[in-house]
Amino acid sequence: MLVDTYGRRATDLRVSLTDRCNLRCTYCMPEEGLQWLAKPDLLSDDETVRLIRIAVTLLGVTDVRFTGGEPLLRPGLTGIVERCAALDPRPRMSLTTNGIGLARTAAALKDAGLDRVNVSLDTLRPEVFHQLTRRDRHHDVIHGLEAARAAGLTPIKINTVLMSGVNDDEAPELLAWAIAEGYELRFIEQMPLDAQHGWKRDGMITAEAIIASLSSRFTLIPEGEQRRGAAPAERWLVDGGPHRVGVIASVTRPFCAACDRTRLTADGQVRSCLFAREETDLRAALRSDAPDEEIADLWRLAMWGKKAGSGLDDPSFLQPDRPMSAIGG
Ligand code: GTP
Ligand code: 5AD
Ligand code: SF4
Repeated sequence: MLVDTYGRRATDLRVSLTDRCNLRCTYCMPEEGLQWLAKPDLLSDDETVRLIRIAVTLLGVTDVRFTGGEPLLRPGLTGIVERCAALDPRPRMSLTTNGIGLARTAAALKDAGLDRVNVSLDTLRPEVFHQLTRRDRHHDVIHGLEAARAAGLTPIKINTVLMSGVNDDEAPELLAWAIAEGYELRFIEQMPLDAQHGWKRDGMITAEAIIASLSSRFTLIPEGEQRRGAAPAERWLVDGGPHRVGVIASVTRPFCAACDRTRLTADGQVRSCLFAREETDLRAALRSDAPDEEIADLWRLAMWGKKAGSGLDDPSFLQPDRPMSAIGG
């Protein structure tokens, strides 16, 4: 078990498979990209699968999410999924992606054992997409989504970050589109995890503002706390149901008290929280031939030190050293 001093149990493992990305979202990283991890520093496919096996067989992890950067850029992704699907117990497996490349890979990923995908899409307007991601690839994302739906990687969730003056007028349009296409839309409050350290609380579109904007066109009824559990999204029934919309209010209504997450970076560091300032080096243990039990103990110790919350509201809050793209969303 991965438990912490507040009694939370981490059963959801998020594995970043690369820190690279083929988009350059302005709220995430600069035009020129970042200093990427060098190949020898990345966990190999074998090392990655070994750590996931330890998490699943010795530490009680039941859900594995592959993230990045952009995880579809990882050459061995399908093989990693296939090997994890063969574990006993078999974890539920999902992928958080920007959708580019999904048109080509969705069917193979489903065959390998992936259960579902969450796709990031902030706008329905190709020119706004281009401006926001600095790449003209809106079409690829839409195609990727259609391929994921056809392959049965469902339910498909869409993650949307709204930004003032860029796409904050699009919330109702996005919701109408998602409902028509059969995707579950969630709006995410922007967090201070950008590489440029440019986040400002008063520049962020809050959950409250998002709900107000959606309410201009839809009737929203909250689903209620009891259904939320450790899921980050608060969900609302749209126009009496059955469709829903979610809001991930990490800043104004954090879900830290119910957090069930543990994280592994692409270079083999365990993080107990997105906002943690410490990491535990499992790669060094792997590469010094430590046995499974010793690695499991290091992981337990890392999670035991998990803080109560993100610390976002503390006057002394400091952004973590790594940006979101290098931690995994
Ligand atoms: P499901 O609801 O199970 O599909 O997963 P999820 O919402 O955890 O997954 P996803 O990777 O799509 O995450 C959506 C967004 O939630 C991320 O982009 C983050 O903005 C936010 N998020 C994910 N994990 C954390 C976390 O540990 N803390 C905070 N504050 N936000 C998180
Ligand atoms: N705050 C909130 N969400 C973010 N994402 C990227 N950076 C941030 C941030 N600073 C989102 C992406 C994607 C998901 C993986 O995380 O838009 O939807
Ligand atoms: Fe890539 Fe995601 Fe960052 Fe956009 S938010 S640049 S898709 S890692």
